[in-house]
Amino acid sequence: MSEVVLRALNVTKRYGGTQALKGVDFEVLKGRVTALFGENGAGKSTLMKILSGIEQPTSGSLELYGEPVEFANTVEARDRGISIIHQELSLSPNLSVRDNIFMGREIIGKGGMVDYAEERRQTQELMERLEEPIDPDTKVADLRLGQQQIVEIARALSVNARILIMDEPTSALSASEVEVLFKVIRDLTASGVSIVYISHHLEEAIEISDHAVVLRDGLIVAQAEIADVDLDWIVGNMVGRGFDLGSPPSRENFGEVALRIEQAMVADPSNPERLAVNGVSIDVREGEIVCIYGLMGAGRTELLEAVAGRVPLAGGRVLLLGRDVAGLSIAERIQVGLGLVPEDRQRDGLVQTMSVGGNLSLASLMKFLKGLVLSRPEEKDLVQQMIRNVRVKTAGPGAAIGSLSGGNQQKVVIGKMLATNPKVILLDEPSRGIDIGAKSEVFGLLSELAEKGLAVIYSTSEVGECLSIAHRVIVMSKGRISAEFDAATTTKEQIMAASGEAAVAI
Ligand SMILES: Nc1ncnc2c1ncn2[C@@H]1O[C@H](COP(=O)(O)OP(=O)(O)OP(=O)(O)O)[C@@H](O)[C@H]1O
Ligand SMILES: [Mg+2]
Repeated sequence: MSEVVLRALNVTKRYGGTQALKGVDFEVLKGRVTALFGENGAGKSTLMKILSGIEQPTSGSLELYGEPVEFANTVEARDRGISIIHQELSLSPNLSVRDNIFMGREIIGKGGMVDYAEERRQTQELMERLEEPIDPDTKVADLRLGQQQIVEIARALSVNARILIMDEPTSALSASEVEVLFKVIRDLTASGVSIVYISHHLEEAIEISDHAVVLRDGLIVAQAEIADVDLDWIVGNMVGRGFDLGSPPSRENFGEVALRIEQAMVADPSNPERLAVNGVSIDVREGEIVCIYGLMGAGRTELLEAVAGRVPLAGGRVLLLGRDVAGLSIAERIQVGLGLVPEDRQRDGLVQTMSVGGNLSLASLMKFLKGLVLSRPEEKDLVQQMIRNVRVKTAGPGAAIGSLSGGNQQKVVIGKMLATNPKVILLDEPSRGIDIGAKSEVFGLLSELAEKGLAVIYSTSEVGECLSIAHRVIVMSKGRISAEFDAATTTKEQIMAASGEAAVAI
């Protein structure tokens, strides 16, 4: 039997009326990776926040190496060797990578001054270990999301913790970045570090962990050695039912071309000399679902953002329902019928200070303006309907956005976009951070919308998700279309090979 290094005993956590944890016994084992599975809102992050001192339990206790222990804050937990990689990035965007890593525990050199050179050297070392050549002086805001996630990982590694909690560490990473992280994890466990790993990429979690624990509705419902479990066991315990990512709706009702992208060029935001998108043309018809597959950095995000009007086109054009959208603002494009679910929902998708209901109706407020008076009852109806449609688990429309679990916040972003009644919808990684039950619901919803004549275009870095509901798969690599497949007749391997990642397939 492995040695238990950290233990939660009968831990409960109540947030107002929500019982997030209902009496949980959880063990972290020395030198092993424990995967914690559970649907959105099951209580995974809450349990991890308690283990790392961010939150205190309502009742129950913790034991570290067999001794009772209490953490009043993260600093106390960190001093005892526990470090956490947050699900929602907790970096300061306006500070450099180095500042983010050493903030609050600066290295003091001779003469009592901060030793920036040493901090810089250590940051560089961490970046080399993570095989991500980021200059320590780069401002975090200038990094793409995946790189920010790597900085978050680097910061957790920098404290040399004995217990490392990873809450969705890979949601924005490419397959090759995940491989590097897994190599780091294997080195860490070999030297006796204990890891708790949370991910909605179930296959990925199975690959890296030794032990599986499933949390459902605030209770641990199953645990086993990874060697003894499979996907069906995990999903069955997570949701208590089977799952299916769906199949494409019929092709009979394909209509006119709703979205036409012609020879689109988009400059790379982090290096304007380079083109992130270099001559891409795609037509999407009414009723059609197109999936764009590609690694991080392939240009998917930049393409979708240019269509939405968030970044300018450097060349080419975009026609929405036959109309050239050049010169239209984002809001005007939404009025013409475009809906975008952005990649970084925390930053771009939600207003953190508003309620769930406020966020849901934000983009569609125009509809409720009757002679400049907001018709509240109609807004309320729509919000209730959206909460139901995308199955947001919340205490109600008045709840603060911050009180929702990560996955449920994402469902709100999707609901918010649907509330604007778009004709063409763009989704950048629609399933990032959402559990398999929610994923099949979101895809089911997209399928229904296409059936009703909407044109849908979404990007993903999970091949399985491309082959679920899409009619057509377009593979992007280095800013260009490298292949196009009919989803009905292609295979995972063909798609991955066209993206240039076959060797690092997980
Ligand atoms: N600060 C808070 N205030 C109120 N309720 C909260 C707060 N944090 C979490 N909750 C609630 O506690 C429950 C568990 O949330 P938690 O974030 O632990 O879920 P999770 O398993 O991490 O989900 P996900 O997979 O979506 O990240 C949810 O119902 C959530 O709404
Ligand atoms: Mg969570």
